[in-house]
Amino acid sequence: MNLRKRIFSGVQPSGNLHIGNYLGAIANWVKLQDEFESIFCVVDMHAITVPQDPEMLRKKTIEIAKIYLAAGIDPKKSSIFIQSQVSEHAELMWILNTIAKMPELEKMTQFKDKTQKGGSESAAVGLFDYPVLMAADILLYGTEVVPVGEDQKQHVELARDLAKRFNQKFGETFIVPKAFIKEEGMRVMGLDNPEKKMSKSAASEYNYISLLDDEETVKRKIKKAVTDSGSEIIYSDEKPALKNLINIYSSFSNLSPKEIEKKYTGKGYGDFKTELAEVIIGFLKPFQEKFNALSDEEVLKILADGATKVRPIAKAKLDEVKNKVGFII
Ligand code: AMP
Ligand code: TRP
Repeated sequence: MNLRKRIFSGVQPSGNLHIGNYLGAIANWVKLQDEFESIFCVVDMHAITVPQDPEMLRKKTIEIAKIYLAAGIDPKKSSIFIQSQVSEHAELMWILNTIAKMPELEKMTQFKDKTQKGGSESAAVGLFDYPVLMAADILLYGTEVVPVGEDQKQHVELARDLAKRFNQKFGETFIVPKAFIKEEGMRVMGLDNPEKKMSKSAASEYNYISLLDDEETVKRKIKKAVTDSGSEIIYSDEKPALKNLINIYSSFSNLSPKEIEKKYTGKGYGDFKTELAEVIIGFLKPFQEKFNALSDEEVLKILADGATKVRPIAKAKLDEVKNKVGFII
C-alpha cells in the first residue's frame, strides 16, 4: 500500500510558459515528486474558459507536457495526464456546482482580474466557474497538498471550503487539501512592470522570459527590463524592479540576494543585466535541449498512460460522491 501523501497540480495549456511558472510552480513539483505521490495535469478544460484556437490548444497541450518532462517530472514517479481525458473532472464539478455559492465565486480575484480586461458582459460562465472545476481536480484524488503559486491560494481555499461543506452535508467524503506555497520571492514579477506578476497572457512579450525563448531574445528582454532610478545594485523593497531581477538571478544561481548585492558593488546595471541574461540562458539551454529531444508521439503515449493510471482513482471517488448525493450508480 502506498502511504505517501498525494499532491496534485496543473498548468493551463495557453500562452507561453515563463520562468515565473517554472520558479513558482514546476521547479517545486520536481522536488516534491520524490516525497509525495504526485499527479500533474495539463488543464485544457480550464484553458477554454477563455477563447482558444483549437489547433493551438492541441499544440500547447503537448508543449506543456514536454515542459513538465524537460523540467524533470519523471513519468515513472509521477502521473502526468490531460484533464479532458478523464471525464470524472467535469462530472464532479457539476455536483460541486450545486453546493458552491455565487458570492464565493464573485469574490475571486482571478475572475475579477480577467473580467476587468475583457468586460464582464463577454465573460463566459465557465470562467466564473473555473475555481469549482479546480476544486473538482483536487478533490477527486484525495489530494492532501496542492503546490501552486501564491496567486492560486484563494482557489485552493475554495476547494477546502467545498470539501468541508460536502462532508458536513453528506458525511465524510473528501480530504480537505492544503495549499503549498513556496515563500521567498517566488512571485516573479513582470519585467516591464514590477507591480504585477509575470504573466503568460501579458500584452507585451517584454513582460516575461518564456521557457522557450532563444538566447538573443533573453538578452534583448533583459536589456529592456525596467529598473528603478539610481545605479547601484541594491536589494530592497524600495526598488521593486531591481529586487525582482535579483530574485530571478538568485533563483537560477547558487547566490543569495545579499551575495549578489556584494558581487555587484561598484558595478552598474549594465554588468548586472548582462550576467543575469547569462545565468538565465545557462538554465534555459539544457532545458530546451531536453524539450527538443521529446517527440509528440512519445509524449502522447506518456499522457495516455497517465490518464489510465489516474482514472480508477477518480472513478472510485466520483462513484462515492454520486452514491452520497442519491444518484443510482
Ligand atoms: P498560470 O500561468 O496562471 O496557469 O499558472 C501556472 C502556475 O504557475 C500556478 O501555480 C501559478 O501560481 C504559477 N505562476 C504563474 N505566474 C507566476 C509568477 N509570475 N510567479 C510565480 N508563480 C507563477
Ligand atoms: N488554476 C491553476 C492555474 O492557473 C491551474 C489548475 C487547474 C490547478 N486545476 C488545478 C492547479 C488543480 C492546482 C490544482 O495556475
